[in-house]
Amino acid sequence: MVGRRMVGRTAHAWLAGALLCLCAASAAAQQAAPPSIPADRFPKPLRPIAGIVSDQWSSEDTRERVGEAARVMQLLGIRPGLAVADIGAGSGYYTVRLSQRVGPAGRVFAEDIMPDYLAGLQRRVAAEGLNNVTLTRGEAHDPRLPPASVDVALLVHMYHEIDQPFGLLANLLPALRPGARVAILDADRVTSQHGTPPALLECELRAVGFRQVAFHPLEGGATYLAVFAPPSQAPAPASIVPCRGEAAR
Ligand SMILES: C[S@@+](CC[C@H](N)C(=O)[O-])C[C@H]1O[C@@H](n2cnc3c(N)ncnc32)[C@H](O)[C@@H]1O
Repeated sequence: MVGRRMVGRTAHAWLAGALLCLCAASAAAQQAAPPSIPADRFPKPLRPIAGIVSDQWSSEDTRERVGEAARVMQLLGIRPGLAVADIGAGSGYYTVRLSQRVGPAGRVFAEDIMPDYLAGLQRRVAAEGLNNVTLTRGEAHDPRLPPASVDVALLVHMYHEIDQPFGLLANLLPALRPGARVAILDADRVTSQHGTPPALLECELRAVGFRQVAFHPLEGGATYLAVFAPPSQAPAPASIVPCRGEAAR
């Protein structure tokens, strides 16, 4: 991973957060995110949660050399007119490429929980004139996306950092349109080392009612893209059972 940074709050980050609140307020005026289920209603996963250390997985040059985003968009059938949520957008490697792919009739919700990362991405989106991108500040247990707004939710190299994965998945459900898919790309290694073993991922998503519908090894198996269909309704938080045993190691 490159670009490791301390994530302490600075005056700059505070100002950026205030600016984003203004953006969020105007977006909210158009279509408010529904009230979410509070974080403390959900169980915590029975495995380490990786810290947030960077706004990108690796350099964009490195990723472009292997055609990462193009391959992922092809596997997911991303096309003009779709609405895609880039959850944990970071510095926007996927956001800018999704924006180009979905075009003026589509939309990209670039969501993150780190105000300074979002401020950097806001500058990038403005500089590149990406008019179909909406920046959204979420919370660890809730991406805070508008209801029925998303065809594909994409979570790239970030699942292992989610402090409240069961809450985030359950609170994502109202944002999904009929037929929507949730796609998760991660490294095949333990969560403490910034990856998620595929069996663990499948188990944790199943605990929230998601069903795996496709699995694509990438980079010779070092990483993978897993695709899930959501449940028709959110499970009661108290009924969610975290994964134990082999899957949670
Ligand atoms: C390693 S970076 C990856 C960024 C980008 N997806 C990429 O592929 O380069 C992980 C990102 O996930 C974000 N993140 C961590 N937990 C999150 C959560 N619960 N909800 C949304 N974003 C989160 C971090 O702030 C960070 O920007």
